[in-house]
Amino acid sequence: MWHNKSNYFGNPNQLTVIFRKNHMSGYHFLFVPGPSNVPAAVQQAIHCPMEDHRNPTIPDLIQPITQDLKKILRTESGKVVFFPSSGTGCWEAALQSTLNVGDKVLGASFGQFSYLWLDMCKRLQFEPITMEEEWGTGANPESYHKHLSEDKNHEIKCVLVCQNETATGVRSDVAAIRKVLDDLNHPALLFVDGVSSVASYEFEMDKWGVDAIVSGSQKGFMLPAGLGILGVSQKAIDAMKNSKYPTCYFDVADMIEKLDGGYLPYTPPVNLLRGFRVAIDMIFDEGLENIWKRHHRLAEGTRKAITEGWGLNLCAKEAKWYSDTVSAIVVPEGFDASKVISTAFNKYNLALGAGLSKVAGKVFRIGHLGDLNECMLFGAISGAEMAMLENGIKVEPGSGAAAASKYWSSN
Ligand SMILES: Cc1ncc(COP(=O)(O)O)c(C=O)c1O
Repeated sequence: MWHNKSNYFGNPNQLTVIFRKNHMSGYHFLFVPGPSNVPAAVQQAIHCPMEDHRNPTIPDLIQPITQDLKKILRTESGKVVFFPSSGTGCWEAALQSTLNVGDKVLGASFGQFSYLWLDMCKRLQFEPITMEEEWGTGANPESYHKHLSEDKNHEIKCVLVCQNETATGVRSDVAAIRKVLDDLNHPALLFVDGVSSVASYEFEMDKWGVDAIVSGSQKGFMLPAGLGILGVSQKAIDAMKNSKYPTCYFDVADMIEKLDGGYLPYTPPVNLLRGFRVAIDMIFDEGLENIWKRHHRLAEGTRKAITEGWGLNLCAKEAKWYSDTVSAIVVPEGFDASKVISTAFNKYNLALGAGLSKVAGKVFRIGHLGDLNECMLFGAISGAEMAMLENGIKVEPGSGAAAASKYWSSN
């Protein structure tokens, strides 16, 4: 039998109908690092009748969104576009629209997503130069310096940085990579993956000289998946003129032109855009910098629960790598993190993030991003704690919530 499970006042999912085979009462606790909770006001905005996507009022919806996105990506000189895709589509759009087959692309691989972007470069016939870093660390400016300083003929056309490696809960210092390029006077484009950082913690497109920033709707933007968001600098736009790479759906120059006129080159998900309008209004209402602070505070409390309460380790090796949107928690040797995730889901109606690739079974993840507060996180911390206890992991009952409570109530 299938049940409509969730319809409670105050539930961030209050309008959501979630179907599961076995009925579970109460809220669904969504704590994967994206998709994040979609606020009720955004859900309501999305829940609207279909309309002609070429009607004369559409530019009134689209043009302000593109302008407002510039404020969120912190660019005045760049352009922002969105595609009806996920973040991966914008990885592809940025590369294909600016580079040529065989171009060298330098990037660091230290988790599933930083790896996948470089893998995409290979599949699309660019020539990736991959700097392998230990998982749990991030982009190392010294490694970038070494490769770029040896590249006397400027054959490296593009440098990739994953600002927030969602698989390991690691944040990288984009400004430090910009500095390497500047110090060497290297002209390569700087592309950043901000899928799980933008609109949650600090990202500065103009200040950090970023030429392409990729994001997606389902994390900090508090929307369902379905929109890829891409900011491009004037330098990237100029590079598009020299790119002979065949593009069609993901042609950024086409998209810029059409969006400037207030439409898309093809059928846009208008309902998502109606939701986007409300989500952006909510972001401005709270204030971008307040959002960054809230994410830091929530992340710190979660880290206290993990390290001081449970006495467990984060996958991120040092504090400088800590991500404010996701914590990957290493289970003790001999235990299987996927069983913790399974207990949390089946018994406590709590979705935790799985360990991916190299860290599969070794970590589980708590996403702390988007429309979220302390009390919601207590649910995730306590649910994860019970799931660990039931799988034989010896943590002190109540210790996670106690450590988080101590931090949040005094900060
Ligand atoms: C850092 C990072 N990059 C890229 C992606 C891929 O984005 P999408 O799933 O929206 O295509 C994700 C997805 O979780 C991510 O976390």
